[in-house]
Amino acid sequence: MAASLLYLFLRLLFSCWILPFRAYCKIKKNGFGGPTPSFPLGNITEMKNSNNVNDSSSGFSGISHDIHSTAFPYFAKWQMIHGKVFIYWLGTEPFLYIAEPEFLKKMSSGVLGKSWGKPMVFKRDRMPMFGSGLVMVEGDDWVRHRHVITPAFSPTNLKAMANSMVEPTTMMLNKWATLISSGQPEIDVEREITTTAGEIIARTSFGLSNHKGRKVYETLRAMQITLFNSNRYVGVPFSKWLCLKKTLEARKLGKEIDQLLLSIIDARTKSWDGTPQKDLLGLLMEGSHVDGRAGKSLTIRELVDECKTFFFAGHETTALALTWTLLLLALHPQWQHQLREEIGQVIGDDDEIVYARLSNLKKMEWVMKEVLRIYSPAPNAQRQAREDIKVDDLIIPNGTNIWIDVVGMHHDPALWGADVNEFRPERFKDDNLYGGCKHKMGFLPFGFGGRMCVGRNLTMMEYKVVLTLMLRKFSFSTSPNYRHSPSILLSLRPRHGLPLIVQPL
Ligand code: HEM
Ligand SMILES: *[C@@H]1O[C@H](CO)[C@@H](O)[C@H](O)[C@H]1NC(C)=O
Ligand SMILES: *[C@@H]1O[C@H](CO)[C@@H](O)[C@H](O)[C@H]1NC(C)=O
Ligand SMILES: *[C@@H]1O[C@H](CO)[C@@H](O)[C@H](O)[C@H]1NC(C)=O
Ligand SMILES: *[C@@H]1O[C@H](CO)[C@@H](O)[C@H](O)[C@H]1NC(C)=O
Repeated sequence: MAASLLYLFLRLLFSCWILPFRAYCKIKKNGFGGPTPSFPLGNITEMKNSNNVNDSSSGFSGISHDIHSTAFPYFAKWQMIHGKVFIYWLGTEPFLYIAEPEFLKKMSSGVLGKSWGKPMVFKRDRMPMFGSGLVMVEGDDWVRHRHVITPAFSPTNLKAMANSMVEPTTMMLNKWATLISSGQPEIDVEREITTTAGEIIARTSFGLSNHKGRKVYETLRAMQITLFNSNRYVGVPFSKWLCLKKTLEARKLGKEIDQLLLSIIDARTKSWDGTPQKDLLGLLMEGSHVDGRAGKSLTIRELVDECKTFFFAGHETTALALTWTLLLLALHPQWQHQLREEIGQVIGDDDEIVYARLSNLKKMEWVMKEVLRIYSPAPNAQRQAREDIKVDDLIIPNGTNIWIDVVGMHHDPALWGADVNEFRPERFKDDNLYGGCKHKMGFLPFGFGGRMCVGRNLTMMEYKVVLTLMLRKFSFSTSPNYRHSPSILLSLRPRHGLPLIVQPL
């Protein structure tokens, strides 16, 4: 008894203190600076406390787009002390913080997409959401997944998905029209758009035509709500047990979703006649059939995880891009006007949206990129070194967690100039790819290298379709009830939603 207690104690000591301490010494020896950690929360306390600052300005007059210092006050502060590359601690896990594009370039130049890892802490934490889907897999498995998934997002396939986006959006807009005519012109567009984007991604991923698809969608939403509040102690040992109820609930919902998706896949396999359904699941199943050689296809278990991955990686990010866009268009009516004019010229009033014309919505593309720059829905990118990586005379040891502060770089005046915190879509007129950023690795809304977002063209299309439909029917202006407080949960969201005054045109 005593022996096993002692053993347990030593195990604990080893994994919670000695291992992290060894990692810390190794990093330190290699020349990186950063805050000294304390046991067992690391710098989490400071990160949480500084989040309680009074950052929500009431009304629209006080809105500042300088969000790095309000949404990530701890990073802004540490940058001033330690520079743009340093170590900090999430619980007992050291993270290498990077907000320096040149360092990032050197670090990633010699590392293939398949040689990068994703931090183990996040894998464990987000297991119910992503499983071993594309966001989380590594090595040769990642190569295989990416190989099957990439063709599913080809322009031909995307074209077939455009119409599954129109119906959910139209339903939302009809609901708005009803609300407005019953005397409620103020609408929380964040909530509305997130629901619709969830519906769209579910349709494009696994179809919603039967009741099973709809049940999956509802359960996925429930799981997301459950997980939202339990993500706060990432990296702290045994934090799982602190939110045991949530953890168990998420696990139960996860099992339910898996069962439902398995039965959808099973039904499709049984009725297989060589022509796949034109949603992502159908395309992946086809890819796995055609390329059925061992080592080139996805297992049924992996198909399930990819469906979940598309949902969690794809709907909130896109919804937030649209949400922040509406805020900026409400603040800048002249841009709202310009986009409406462009829609009139390029798309017209047709109910059916012609896919080929979407690429001519140039101004809308500038606006989207500028929104992704200022309010990047994915505020950071993460990696874990799976080998020693040399950067000049520094060595990032095998196993180091890496945290790339995308919002930090997008708001760095050294990269963008003095107007960095102003909404100026025309930056992308002259420099369509980088918006005039002084470094090519300074604008990373979709990540970087081989692991860059696989859904970015789908997102671009969805953004254009939904925004076109919205701007053709309604105009958007600011509401005195909005409180500006961009904050990070999983993505960068308006903490109190986004109420706007919506008027029919
Ligand atoms: C505005 C919308 C979106 C944003 C801002 C966004 C952003 C990102 C970012 C930052 C990454 C990580 C890249 C890296 O680590 O270097 C990523 C990866 C990924 N995204 Fe997106 N994304 C969006 C929409 C979507 C959509 C619609 C889908 C799918 C339907 C999707 C699926 C994925 C997948 C599967 C990965 C993992 C790719 C890999 O590791 O190989 N994303 N996304
Ligand atoms: C990180 O946290 C430790 C204690 O938790 C604290 O002593 C240290 O000052 C923090 N680092 C910074 C840069 O604030
Ligand atoms: C935050 O600031 C606003 C206005 O500056 C003020 O009305 C409000 O009471 C403050 N809230 C807190 C919690 O300090
Ligand atoms: C990195 O570390 C892991 C586990 O500690 C080990 O399995 C792997 O072989 C190491 N990689 C290299 C390239 O040394
Ligand atoms: C997106 O589209 C562009 C051009 O249309 C293409 O070059 C690129 O490979 C596509 N990206 C993905 C991830 O499919």
